[in-house]
Amino acid sequence: MIDGVLLRRAESEDAWPMGVIETACWRVGYAGVLPQPVLEALDETVRADRWQRILRRAGSEAWVAQNLEGRVLGFTALGLPSEEWEDEPDAQDEHRVRSLFVAPPFWRLGLGTRLLKWAEEQTVVLGGQHILARVPRDAAWVRKFYERAGYTDTGGSAGRLAGHSATFATYEKLLEPVTPSP
Ligand SMILES: CC(C)(COP(=O)(O)OP(=O)(O)OC[C@H]1O[C@@H](n2cnc3c(N)ncnc32)[C@H](O)[C@@H]1OP(=O)(O)O)[C@@H](O)C(=O)NCCC(=O)NCCS
Repeated sequence: MIDGVLLRRAESEDAWPMGVIETACWRVGYAGVLPQPVLEALDETVRADRWQRILRRAGSEAWVAQNLEGRVLGFTALGLPSEEWEDEPDAQDEHRVRSLFVAPPFWRLGLGTRLLKWAEEQTVVLGGQHILARVPRDAAWVRKFYERAGYTDTGGSAGRLAGHSATFATYEKLLEPVTPSP
């Protein structure tokens, strides 16, 4: 675990590090899962612009993990399917982990688990009773990550990953309601 990591709401100046981290995650984590030309075609600027648009929207729920030097190490974003997110079909009226990315040099240090826990807590605050995450089926380590965090595989679906056809597993976790203080 890394000391001194702070979780805070993402702001518009975080769009660039978010785009860089997202692109690095695809390139490092999805080599062998997605075709190399698809990974090479990813563009940090395009991803950062997309985050800029998302963060400007009222009601966007995104948080970054930042270290003591102020460097963004990872982030998570929540959303309901009714919101406009690329590569995601609209489905039930459910809360979802839309994005969860940790910069590759900081993998396996517990940051992903911390961000996911935070996303779950925020979902409860938003009134959610369970949370979904759509995971590329071929990304075995991501499935392991969610399974270890208490998520259950509820079935598969077809979709698109970085513009490429892929199959997904939908993971679900029931969340404990917040107990009001006496
Ligand atoms: C998935 C991801 C967020 C995990 O972040 P992380 O900070 O490395 O996760 P943690 O350190 O909290 O890992 C918790 C557990 O998940 C499992 N896990 C995580 N990465 C793993 C890997 N590469 N191989 C095997 N197990 C892994 C392990 O059980 C790990 O516990 P351990 O290290 O004590 O064995 C990160 O790998 C990532 O950003 N991946 C690319 C983006 C992505 O696929 N996001 C999810 C899409 S919904």
